[in-house]
Amino acid sequence: MSALFSPITIRSIQLKNRIVVSPMCQYSSENGFTNDWHLVHLGSRAVGGAGLIITEAAAISPEGRISPHDLGIWKDEHIAGLKRITQFINQQGAVAGIQLAHAGRKASHHRPWDGGKAIAPTEEKGWETVAPSPIPFTETEPIPLELTTEGIHNVLADFQDATRRSVEAGFQVAEIHAAHGYLLHQFLSPLSNQRTDNYGGSFDNRIRLLLEVIERVQTVWPEEYPLFVRISATDWTEGGWTADDSVALATVLKTKGVDVIDCSTGGNVAKAKIPVGPGYQVEFAERVKQEAGILTAAVGLITTVEQAEEILESGQADFILMAREFLRDPYFPLHAAHTLGDEIAWPAQYERAKPR
Ligand SMILES: Cc1cc2nc3c(=O)[nH]c(=O)nc-3n(C[C@H](O)[C@H](O)[C@H](O)COP(=O)(O)O)c2cc1C
Repeated sequence: MSALFSPITIRSIQLKNRIVVSPMCQYSSENGFTNDWHLVHLGSRAVGGAGLIITEAAAISPEGRISPHDLGIWKDEHIAGLKRITQFINQQGAVAGIQLAHAGRKASHHRPWDGGKAIAPTEEKGWETVAPSPIPFTETEPIPLELTTEGIHNVLADFQDATRRSVEAGFQVAEIHAAHGYLLHQFLSPLSNQRTDNYGGSFDNRIRLLLEVIERVQTVWPEEYPLFVRISATDWTEGGWTADDSVALATVLKTKGVDVIDCSTGGNVAKAKIPVGPGYQVEFAERVKQEAGILTAAVGLITTVEQAEEILESGQADFILMAREFLRDPYFPLHAAHTLGDEIAWPAQYERAKPR
């Protein structure tokens, strides 16, 4: 069996392979609700053989949405639609994961195909955004409100409630989104966090909110289910969050019961120069894995079977997350198994098309 198709058990959840559908915003919800699009989008990738399918960023509160069309999990009414999707995913022998998110200062934007620009709080469909400090993502965007202590308590309660709903909806993996310049990353990075209270300044203060979120999530997240945290392993900017910080954070998260660090990068500095290329973020998954001794996921321009297999084989990461390649080919895992000569089950309905 290849490394890519070696099963793995984390806590009590078995994943049939190491191929994970990376969270991808679909900007196709109204008031946070799922619809046919989400079922077909996520369901197709379960049919395609991925071991774990993680939803797009699901907003823990309405003001935590990137756009008015984000998926949401801030009210109990959201549960039924999500449950239909997790049940379908499970029927395909895959595990359903949810990414829990708050966009902070990057909230209240038009979706990409509507131009992607910030929507001012005064405009229709816009709202006031919050952040660790009143620093906008770019000079042209509205200035976010500095989160008060009460605001922080609300964020913590929202993460907890969203987690409880995730369990009720049938998710067996939760991923806390602390990457890409969204709220939790904004707290981590000294470039966006200039607070002078317990949540800003030192490394320990900047990671405090994430640790508190994890603690609150764990009050309702079953111990037998894995917990992932997605980080941006570097801001790619002088004076920002660094790979060393990521190793230090992962070392702490391991002691707090986090199972997997999903290593992305960037997103907190609009002008950062990122050396984008095949597998350009794998080195961070490798460093965190080696130095913090925790399972890691590699993501970012991993597009071929050979590349994915090599990353796992060489011990650089434990999981391969793919986003855009899965949009091109929902059946990537079925094809990959054939290429690697691994015998895996195809959906019975598709059996006649299986290469022999
Ligand atoms: C359409 C689209 C939507 C995305 N939405 C999210 C998201 O909701 N949460 C997240 O953490 N990353 C999101 N990403 C980033 C991907 O999960 C992934 O990290 C990135 O695309 C790099 O992987 P790739 O080269 O395989 O596409 C999104 C990417 C795409 C292409």
